[in-house]
Amino acid sequence: MSEIENDNVTRLASQWMASRQTVLPKRLVAPGPSAAELDQLFQAAAAAPDHDLINPWRFLIIPEHKRLDLGELFAAALLERDPSASPDQLAQARDKALRAPLLMVLIVDEAKGSAEIDLLERVLSAGCAVQNVMLLAQAMGYGSGLTSGKALKAASFRAGLGLNPSEHAICCLSVGTVSSRKPFKARPEVAQFTRVWGDST
Ligand SMILES: Cc1cc2nc3c(=O)[nH]c(=O)nc-3n(C[C@H](O)[C@H](O)[C@H](O)COP(=O)(O)O)c2cc1C
Repeated sequence: MSEIENDNVTRLASQWMASRQTVLPKRLVAPGPSAAELDQLFQAAAAAPDHDLINPWRFLIIPEHKRLDLGELFAAALLERDPSASPDQLAQARDKALRAPLLMVLIVDEAKGSAEIDLLERVLSAGCAVQNVMLLAQAMGYGSGLTSGKALKAASFRAGLGLNPSEHAICCLSVGTVSSRKPFKARPEVAQFTRVWGDST
C-alpha cells in the first residue's frame, strides 16, 4: 500500500470508529442484515483476538418466531426479582424482546478450552468480537447497540436460553436500520485514560 493510500485508510478507519454510536433497540427498525450480511458480521467477530484460540464466546440469535418466548423470559426474570411487578412493568419487560430486526445474546463460557485463560480475558475477547460486528454493521449502513440488565443473570432466563452453568449472558446486541438518532455522546479525553508509568501527574 502506498503512503497516500495508507494515510487515507488511517483517516477513514479513525473516522469510522469515532462515528460509531449506540443506537438503542427501540430506534432500530427493519430491514436488518440479510443472511449473507449476517455471515459477514460473524466473520468479523471471528477476527477478534482470542488467547489460545479457545473461542470462548458465542452469539445466540433470537429469530422472529422466538421473540415472544424471549419476552416471556424477560417477564419471568422480572417476577423472579420482584414478585409484585405490575402488569405494566411486565409488559415493558416483554416488549424488550420485540425490538430491532436482528437480536442476539452474547454469551461467554468461562470453562471452554484452556483453563489458563481466565474470565476477564474471555470477556475481553467477546468485547473485541462484538465491536468488530458493530463496526462492520455500521459499514453496511445499519445501527447497533448493546443492552444488558438484571434479567441476563436470572436463573429462569439462563435456564430458558439453555445456558450451561459455566456460561454467562453478557449483553444483547441489536442491529437494524436506524429510525432516529440521539446526539453523539462526548468521548473521554485521551488524558483521562492514559498515563506514562513513572510520571507523577
Ligand atoms: C456490555 C455493555 C452493556 C450495555 N448495556 C446498555 C444498556 O443496557 N442500556 C443502554 O442504554 N446502553 C447500554 N450500553 C451502551 C452504553 O451506554 C454506551 O456505549 C455508552 O453510553 C457510550 O455511548 P456510545 O456507544 O454511543 O459511544 C452498554 C454497553 C456495553 C459495553
